[in-house]
Amino acid sequence: MSDVAGTTSRGSCPVHGMGNRPSPYYHETMYAELAQARRDEPVFYSPETGYWIVTRYDDAMAILHDHDRISSENTSDSASPVHQDAIDIMKAGNFTAEKVQSNCDGERHTRVRNASAQLLNIRTFTAMEPAIRDLVTKALDRLEGRQSADLLADLTYELPAQVLFLLLGIPQEDMDKVKAWSGTRTILNFSPSTYEQQIAGARDMVAYWQYCVDLVRKRMESPGDDVVSGLLRVRNGDDSILTLNELTTVVYGLVFAGHETTTSQLTNAFRALLTYRDNWEAICADTSLIPFAVEETFRYCGAVIGWRRRAKTAIEIGGVTIPAGGNIILSFGSANRDEKHFEEPERFDVRRKNARKHLTMGNGKHVCLGAPLARLEMKIVLEEFTRRFPNVRLAENAKVEHAYTYVFRAPRSLPVELR
Ligand code: HEM
Repeated sequence: MSDVAGTTSRGSCPVHGMGNRPSPYYHETMYAELAQARRDEPVFYSPETGYWIVTRYDDAMAILHDHDRISSENTSDSASPVHQDAIDIMKAGNFTAEKVQSNCDGERHTRVRNASAQLLNIRTFTAMEPAIRDLVTKALDRLEGRQSADLLADLTYELPAQVLFLLLGIPQEDMDKVKAWSGTRTILNFSPSTYEQQIAGARDMVAYWQYCVDLVRKRMESPGDDVVSGLLRVRNGDDSILTLNELTTVVYGLVFAGHETTTSQLTNAFRALLTYRDNWEAICADTSLIPFAVEETFRYCGAVIGWRRRAKTAIEIGGVTIPAGGNIILSFGSANRDEKHFEEPERFDVRRKNARKHLTMGNGKHVCLGAPLARLEMKIVLEEFTRRFPNVRLAENAKVEHAYTYVFRAPRSLPVELR
């Protein structure tokens, strides 16, 4: 997976003392620093990102539900100012993606969400269970006989995309280009990017968008039983339900959101379960614990650690005034370890009773529409993996690095011994 090897300066914060400490980019020390922030300065300005960081569960929850004063419009904005040359490339390439889902407010969001939810729901996802299990079985067959593996490269990188391709009716042979475009999109939207990355990225996004336009056109010509065809049926040619450009943007969103996060979540889950091995042994011995284990991994090591919002007016939160227009990061990674809500929050425990309260999928109006699918995929992977490779161990001295972003906790590898 691609990444930005940028350097960061930890200059002191002009606004607050905490500002130069919990750097959202330093994954190694992130959780310890956020624990200190929750205690000492639960809302602080981070000059490194230009965002106000909200670390306590109650404050994050209040913001997630405050639609009058808080906007979602910035959730997938570029982390760096976008150069005019990159904007021009996208314009020339007819890139017309709009703000329709996670990054959208009000009536339009409700309308697009209602249309999408007719396809993205438990019924659709549950019907996929046999097909998902089949994909997982085939992926694990490829690990048979091996002594060691990188669980990211050899399992979790492609699997969620294979599931999403089934959902959308995308041919599996398009894997390499879709995964490559998604990696680029992670950098453009969620990491600081250089001029060169923006230019190359803009060209990639034009190709990615065009791919979605073509996919929608093909389904118009020859409908199937996939989600794209289903969205077209829901739209039924009626722009007041969903315009064609909105529908294409939904597809463009899914072709990213539907797999990148699950890839990271699965990898984080394996890492936590194998690090705190009694938990791994517990789920091997009693597979009915697996759904609880899945929730605990969302809480303890969620793939989304910080999601964005913008203050429409000045708001006071956690004793701090965030000015009108202020950009906010809701630190889900911190909220999920808030001691007010989770007993011994730094302990990973698959038997934890309230792990499902985590915020990793958001909460409220924008809560993740794919959450049941991600949960199902994770459950199936863990059920099959514990059965076939109960003796798996983390490779000795394996150092896990993370992608350079404050939005995702995305490991770049996970070496294990399988036997
Ligand atoms: C581990 C996997 C996943 C995680 C951690 C995750 C996390 C999130 C988060 C944090 C949001 C934004 C919530 C907010 O703004 O308040 C979101 C929204 C969304 N997610 Fe996921 N997601 C995952 C998997 C998926 C999958 C598999 C799909 C689709 C198949 C999906 C589709 C969506 C959609 C459509 C939205 C927009 C919802 C809206 O704004 O109304 N996600 N997700």
